[in-house]
Amino acid sequence: MFENMTEQEAKTSILELVDEYCEQYHKTKNYENGQRIPYANRVYNKEEMFNLVDSALEFWLTAGRYTAVFEREFSAYLNVNYCSLVNSGSSANLLAFMALTSSMLEDRAIKPGDEVITVAAGFPTTVAPIIQYGAIPVFVDVTIPEYNIDVSLLENAISKKTKAVMIAHTLGNPFDIQSVKNFCDRYNLWLIEDNCDALGARYLINGEEKFTGTIGDIGTSSFYPPHHMTMGEGGAVYTNNALLNKIIRSLRDWGRECSCPSGKDNFCGHRFDKQFGELPLGYDHKYVYSHFGYNLKATDLQAAIGVAQLRKLSSFIEKRRYNFNRLKNKLQCLEEKLILPKSEKNSKPSWFGFLITCKNGIKRNEVIQHLEEKRIQTRMLFAGNLIKHPCFDEMRRVGVGYRVIGELKNTDVIMNDTFWIGVYPGMTDEMIDYMVETIEEAVEL
Ligand SMILES: Cc1ncc(COP(=O)(O)O)c(C=O)c1O
Repeated sequence: MFENMTEQEAKTSILELVDEYCEQYHKTKNYENGQRIPYANRVYNKEEMFNLVDSALEFWLTAGRYTAVFEREFSAYLNVNYCSLVNSGSSANLLAFMALTSSMLEDRAIKPGDEVITVAAGFPTTVAPIIQYGAIPVFVDVTIPEYNIDVSLLENAISKKTKAVMIAHTLGNPFDIQSVKNFCDRYNLWLIEDNCDALGARYLINGEEKFTGTIGDIGTSSFYPPHHMTMGEGGAVYTNNALLNKIIRSLRDWGRECSCPSGKDNFCGHRFDKQFGELPLGYDHKYVYSHFGYNLKATDLQAAIGVAQLRKLSSFIEKRRYNFNRLKNKLQCLEEKLILPKSEKNSKPSWFGFLITCKNGIKRNEVIQHLEEKRIQTRMLFAGNLIKHPCFDEMRRVGVGYRVIGELKNTDVIMNDTFWIGVYPGMTDEMIDYMVETIEEAVEL
């Protein structure tokens, strides 16, 4: 087939076939009555597949051309100085937290035994790095129907050991960033915004609208398929702080001192002329380690998909908002029985899902059972109350390793009475209306 073709011509012919294949076999089918309605789904077309195959044919595999484009375009989208692509949102959280333990931060570095304020109503890997490192998570309750940290409790959580606040914007609804930021500034604390479920949300702070994830010291994203955009697995860590960026890059790339891109030698121009630690003068900079690091890079194949997804992100977010509003307007009549979600003041959410809390005797498990039987996929607010999980058994028994402020009453309500359904951009009005009808049926049973 490739006889008499240049490599470029051969590549073009393969990519044309990919386009055709995608049109033929990956076209979104129209919703049919009775079809399962997932809480989330990938939305893509031939552009993602084109980039993926283009990257595969290049066969660079590790971080390369597409990674550089993605990091540049994602930083530009968010209006941040630095972005590092990683292999998942959980890796992004691990890197964000571990960056704050670097000795390069001197007095402000988090040490084992220091405290980090967080919440228990959320995803486990927002909290896991704190515990894995030997720092102490301090759990504060959340408010309903915002499902975010109750900022009126922050002052009760502070101690001499507090070094940071690390929390997520729950399901796309920004937390009260102004209050949290003021609190962090008052006590000289770091703020990590887990932005994995909120990409594209905005918040008005000091008269300026900014993307969530870019207001604290470090923000994180996840590109796991249900999220606002996907590359299969993937994540990002972003910051405006040059020192934090240097630490994040070092930790992501084996802990090395050098920041030369993979496959490029002596990019920094100082490969053999510097003195580090107790190493001989001029020891190869590429193999000098300033941190005990990881390798959390993503592949260029993932980045290639991400580059195509990023170009669609704004339209995805708008469609999520539209779907959310349609659901909320139509469910308003059930407010005697169900608590509907509410956005924080000064925020423009980028909804990941539609949270519902059952009240007045309506049983959450009966409602979700009905929905699942009717082929509507439901989800919990992840851990509900993380402290109740088996991973906390030992710490709960011994009573050390974490602190709880007050009673986490709303967190327990979420564990017992809350669930969520999807608003992903591939949803049609028909699907949303079917979900509304089915919820109405479920609460009337
Ligand atoms: C708030 C939050 N943080 C972190 C993560 C972890 O992301 P990943 O699945 O890419 O590791 C998730 C996963 O959905 C999440 O919801």
